Amino acid sequence: MKLALAAALATSVLLSGTALASAELATQHKCTTCHAMDKKMMGPTWKEIAAKNKGQADAEKTLAEAITKGVKGKYGKVPMPPQPKAASDAPALAKWILSLN
Ligand code: HEC
Repeated sequence: MKLALAAALATSVLLSGTALASAELATQHKCTTCHAMDKKMMGPTWKEIAAKNKGQADAEKTLAEAITKGVKGKYGKVPMPPQPKAASDAPALAKWILSLN
């Protein structure tokens, strides 16, 4: 009983830790100067990106590539400049964005 509780607690800490880590990554890489969860800024909201790519084959790869190489014409007229410094974190960021659906 105690053990099960401890395991459940550990799991929830781990899970929220992952979500937090990715939100922190987005802040660290300054993605948040153009993107927010609900408020449209220069770039589309994280939720808008998640919704648009929902159910797409290879969505994770598409987003990771867009982050590293930049993307334009998919949401509006403003292009996103490439973020090469975020390349190693791009898969984690892509996964996190898609998890917001
Ligand atoms: C200078 C502003 C700016 C910064 C900084 C920025 N973005 Fe973007 N981002 C945009 C814009 C604008 C678009 C929409 C481009 C379009 O219409 O194709 C976009 C689109 C995206 C998409 C959608 C790609 C797709 O194929 O649907 C993702 C994912 C994304 N950004 C993630 C990030 C991440 C992660 C970072 C930080 C490493 C970041 N962005 C930093 C402006 C920015």
